[in-house]
Amino acid sequence: MNTKRICLFSGSSHPELAANIASGMGISLGKLQIRSFPDGEIGVQLGEEVQGKEIFVLQSLASRPNHYLMELLIIIDALKRSGATKITALIPYLAYSRQDRQNVQGEPITAKLVADLLTAAGVTHLIAIDLHADQVEGFFNIPVVHLRCRPLLSEYAAKRMKGNLRVVAPDIGSVKTAEGIAKHLKKELVIIQKERLTPEKVIMKLIGEVAGCDLLLVDDLCSTGNTLLAAARLCCDHGAGTMAAVISHGLFAEDALRKLVTSGLSFMVTSDTIPQKDHCPKLETLSVAPLIMEHLFNVMEKSHNKNN
Ligand code: R5P
Repeated sequence: MNTKRICLFSGSSHPELAANIASGMGISLGKLQIRSFPDGEIGVQLGEEVQGKEIFVLQSLASRPNHYLMELLIIIDALKRSGATKITALIPYLAYSRQDRQNVQGEPITAKLVADLLTAAGVTHLIAIDLHADQVEGFFNIPVVHLRCRPLLSEYAAKRMKGNLRVVAPDIGSVKTAEGIAKHLKKELVIIQKERLTPEKVIMKLIGEVAGCDLLLVDDLCSTGNTLLAAARLCCDHGAGTMAAVISHGLFAEDALRKLVTSGLSFMVTSDTIPQKDHCPKLETLSVAPLIMEHLFNVMEKSHNKNN
């Protein structure tokens, strides 16, 4: 297969994942200089020819979403101006996807805005992983490949659990996500529903039985950890057995990891769509590199067959 036709560039958000993919595929990372001007503006310069090549740019939009998004847009612009015609943004974690509708008047729909910005810059294809909701795909008027790592994370976590295992949706927003995993693992689904009694008072209700069951709490992402923490507490109060969490994207903002370590969760499994810098004894990270590589190999094979 001709790996010379494929070129993977890395933004500055997740060089480790990009390097792992490149070395696993036997390709070198595209040469790219990223710099910061004294006033904070970002500048880039490509260090190689991109015309006629299949270009992928890996950038995960976590921890500094505004900076990394802007950096990605600038890299895409440089590629476009250098003659690249097919530019795939490989975005393991797509920030701003949670704001995908107007809950009240006056709010933005940032998921659509980000889609528009990427396509305006020159992105022609998108590869994303475990999007917050499937409908985000529809905000892009370009081909979207939506890879799923959650089934792999859940299978891994389920193997470590014993007893009568059930899958828990920690809030109503995660029902579809957790339901998919419950079906995948052929387990029953339990739902946690929040009910606001007064502006200050919220009660949480369990829909389903957890007493004496081991539980897998499944969510697309964990930011402050408050959703998982409250869910774990409620399940514990209702007599749950061993509890673990599966989270596609571990944002772990502020002191989330510290809070989760002292929660009733025995362990958490996440992916490396976001670099995990802090060590946490209860957190296991599985790499999405094989998933991405499998897709890229398929792309390469198709383009090889087309050209021969
Ligand atoms: C919500 O829609 C998401 O699926 C997560 O449940 C939520 O964003 C988690 O946030 P946090 O960890 O801050 O509670």
